[in-house]
Formats: sequence, C-alpha cells, structure tokens
Amino acid sequence: PLPDYSPAVVIGTGYGAAVTALRLGEAGVPTVMLEMGQLWNEAGPDGKVFCDMLKPDRRSMWFKKRTEAPLASFLWLDVANHDIDPYAGVLDRVNYGGMSVYVGRGVGGGSLVNGAMAVQPKRSYFEEILPQVDADEMYGKYYPRANAGLGVNHIDEDWFETCKSYQFARVSRKAAQKTGLKTTFVPSVYDFDYMKQEEAGTVERSALASEVIYGNNHGKRSLDKTYLAAALGTGHVTIQTLSEVREIIQQQDGTYTLVVRESDALGNVLSTKHLSTKYLFLGAGSLGSTELLVRARDTGRLPRLSEAVGQGWGTNGNVMLGRANHVWDTTGSLEAGMPALGIDDWDNPTHPVFAEIAPVPAGLETWASLYLAITKNPERGHFTYDAASDSAKLQWTPDQGQPSIDAAKSLFDRVNKANSTIYRYDLFGDTRAFENRFTYHPLGGLVLGDATDNYGRVKGYRNLYVTDGSLIPGSTGVNPFVTITALAERNIERVIAEDGVRA
Ligand code: FDA
Repeated sequence: PLPDYSPAVVIGTGYGAAVTALRLGEAGVPTVMLEMGQLWNEAGPDGKVFCDMLKPDRRSMWFKKRTEAPLASFLWLDVANHDIDPYAGVLDRVNYGGMSVYVGRGVGGGSLVNGAMAVQPKRSYFEEILPQVDADEMYGKYYPRANAGLGVNHIDEDWFETCKSYQFARVSRKAAQKTGLKTTFVPSVYDFDYMKQEEAGTVERSALASEVIYGNNHGKRSLDKTYLAAALGTGHVTIQTLSEVREIIQQQDGTYTLVVRESDALGNVLSTKHLSTKYLFLGAGSLGSTELLVRARDTGRLPRLSEAVGQGWGTNGNVMLGRANHVWDTTGSLEAGMPALGIDDWDNPTHPVFAEIAPVPAGLETWASLYLAITKNPERGHFTYDAASDSAKLQWTPDQGQPSIDAAKSLFDRVNKANSTIYRYDLFGDTRAFENRFTYHPLGGLVLGDATDNYGRVKGYRNLYVTDGSLIPGSTGVNPFVTITALAERNIERVIAEDGVRA
C-alpha cells in the first residue's frame, strides 16, 4: 500500500525516472515510484505476457476500443487494426488535434514498446541543441554510463550479411548505396545473440515473431530488466503501479503532496490517496511531466512556475514513408522487428536526415521498404491548460510538420530516382506517401535551462526536478532514449551531490 510520506518520490518509470530512482536508491534515499501503467510480468491465458502485432488483444493498447497502429493499411486495406476491449494495455496513442503521440504505459515506460535503437547524436548536433551542457562530460562520462546501464549491444556484422531477418535492411542498403548515401549500423538494447538463436530456431521467437510495439516477450533489455531491477535491488526503492499522479500541491513547509488516483486494469478508480515528499522528481515523459506542471501552474497550485513551462515541444522531426521495391528485390517474409541500420545523411547542408530502415513485420512479402526519417524541423509546439477536461492540450498544426516532409522527400526522391522506384501510397490509411501526423519521439515542454536550471531543477520551486524527455528542446537528430538516459545520469549526480538529498 501507498505510504503517507516518502523522502523522495519519482513520478513515472521510463528512462529519466529509472536512472533517478537507481541513483537515489544507491545513495540510501527511500524512494517511491508512481506509475500509471501496469507491471508487465504475468502471462495471460495464452501463456504470454505481451501480444504480437498480428493478433493484438486488449493488452496491446491503453484504453482503446480499436488498435491504432502506425501503419494504418496495406494495399489500402484496414488489415493492421483490430477491435479490442478497453484495458490498461502497454502502448498509448495520445491524439491531440494536429498531432498524435505514441508512448509506453507500464513499468519501464517507452522501453517496453520501443524499437530498442540506442543511438548517440553526433557531438556537433548535441552542442547545437544543448549548448549549455558540457559535451566533454557527456561524451566522456555520461553517455558511456548510460550505454552500460542500458545494456547496449552491437550486431555481429558477419551474421547481418547472411541472415534472413535483415534481408529487408540489405535491400534498403543497396538502394541507398546506389544513391551514393552512407548507411550505419544502429546499436540496440535488443539482445542480438538472442535474435541469432531465434533465427536458428533454438529459442522462442520474439523480434522475429512480430513483437515490437505491443511489447516483447523475450530478447529486449527493457528498463524493468536493467535500471529498474538495479533500483529495486538497492532495497530503498518501491514501485506503485496503476497509480496516476493527478496533482502536485506545495505545503507551507515546502514539502509536496501528490494526489494519486489508484485504478484497476479495467479503468475503475479504486481510491484517491495523498502522498507527501520532500524531494519530487518528474519522470512522466514529455507529455506526462509537462501536463502535471502546466496544470499545477494554471490551476494556481504552483503559481510561481514560469511561462517556459509547456513550451519548446517538438516531434524530433519524425516522418514515416515507404518505397515500393522492385519485384526481384524480395525481403522475404521474415523481418526482424528491431531496426539495425540507418541511412545517415545528417551532414546534408540543406536537409539533414537520419533515416532508420524500419521493418514491416507482417509475416509476408510486402515489397515495401519502410523508413522512419528523423529530420531537423525547427517548428515547436506548446501546451495549454484546458479546464473543461483538466488536461494539457498540445498546440501543433499540420503545417508545422511540413519541414519534416520536405527533408524526407528531398532524400527519398534521390533514392527513388537512382533506383527507378516509387513511393508506397497504400500504407497510411489514405493515399499520402509521407506520414507526419504522429511521432514516436515527443521531446520538450520543460526545456533544460528554460523551465528548469541547467540540471533539471524547476525554476521557482525548491526540491522539484524534471528528469525525462521533456528537458530536451524538441530534437536530438537521432532516436532519443540514450540521450534522455545520459542527461538524467548527469543531472541526478549533481543534485545528489549539491542538494542534500537524504533520508
Ligand atoms: P517515458 O515515456 O519512457 O516514461 C514515462 C512514464 O510515466 C510512462 O510509463 C507513463 O505511463 C508514466 N506516466 C505518465 N504520466 C504519469 C502520471 N501522471 N502518473 C504516473 N505515471 C505517469 N527511442 C529510441 O531512442 N529508440 C527507439 O528505437 C525508439 N522507438 C520507439 C518506438 C515506439 C513505438 C515508441 C512509442 C517510442 C520509441 N522511442 C524510441 C522513444 C522512447 O521510447 C522515448 O523517447 C522514451 O521512452 C522517453 O523516455 P522518458 O523517460 O521521457 O519517459
């Protein structure tokens, strides 16, 4: 049961939260983590913890009546989505007017549902987005620490050249090379040795069995197996699941009281409890942490929060697109769910793009090459408080996504020209070739140095901290979780050393 008081509280259990809880636990500080999603460790009636993408059931999504998969169609047929019962499933798609955002729900946050790509940004770009952060320290100390803590590993390049699972990536690489483009291997937190055994048929398949966005039953080093396991191992950290923080109130003595809504997995509210703490860490992700502080400011609970709260949000320039492969360029029916290769055109002077070569794990030949393009889109959105729904609404208009499309189009027009290929127009529900109405990489809202100081301390309040992707100003140029992890490592080290955090 939830105590009335804990010296430290961490909201959420994603990357920033997990790092923070581990380091607090190691420092001997009793810490409660509050997570609105479930702990994913019990098998369902089919003997599995998670369902796959081909036959999704209620475990797939967070309180939806029908799944909302990123590839909405195939040959314009609505084959990707299925009716499900509303339930506290693992993947949420939060739909705002002009933008939808995918996020993980459960102990481990996004690590439960993501593609496991563990990429460090180019140092020059890191210096551009976060100029006030010491890059020597990040690249010398905190990125290595993050990679070690996350269990990042690299693919066996000889195996890559001959395996069935990455035939799709080799087909895309050939097309990139014909265009004169560089490709690069992408480090991962999916265990590539396990994947080898999956292909050899000696272990139960996961990444090779269409398991990705609704969770992986094997192979994935998600946070519950890395940072969070270590945090619990300190003996000072506990995790409360199905516990959503609704409000943050500050008491006269400076301590914080949280209003926590406890539910069951069907969404029935069981109770509303109060938990007080001296040190409060927000790790509820870009959407979650930003909403909590926008609500707190605009309802007058934390009136000294700055105008910067809710600003500086971006999509990391995400765009998805598909190209039609030539009939002779078959990918085979087996595609590893975890990407392992990217097209690196980030040094392009007009349209920098880092494009992940993404699988279509449909279990059949699709003659499609799919990409998640990460582009440098300067547009930023912001959040406003909507009193009627007591929630924060993202303000982002469709035209703000156009720079992302322009960049992706400039790259893939070249690829198509060099290979005499065309785009796929059947993948996103209508006839568009570029899908930029959703992002996997929500970043910003509580930007480092604006809403907080240079170490995530929220301006205007003592002992209140931001630890997650909301610190990053809208863009990282690559997939973001290693950067979120490394920044959290940097910040919590400083906070524990300077702010007197103790039991
Ligand atoms: P994160 O979102 O991980 O965690 C926040 C947690 O807080 C969640 O568990 C949420 O339920 C909880 N929460 C929110 N509000 C709460 C409240 N009020 N009370 C209690 N709990 C609350 N990145 C990458 O680097 N490589 C990749 O391959 C991919 N691929 C990818 C695929 C898909 C499908 C998705 C959705 C995302 C990715 N990402 C990715 C992105 C990556 O997963 C994402 O950037 C991080 O998970 C963000 O980490 P945070 O610590 O910011 O929060």
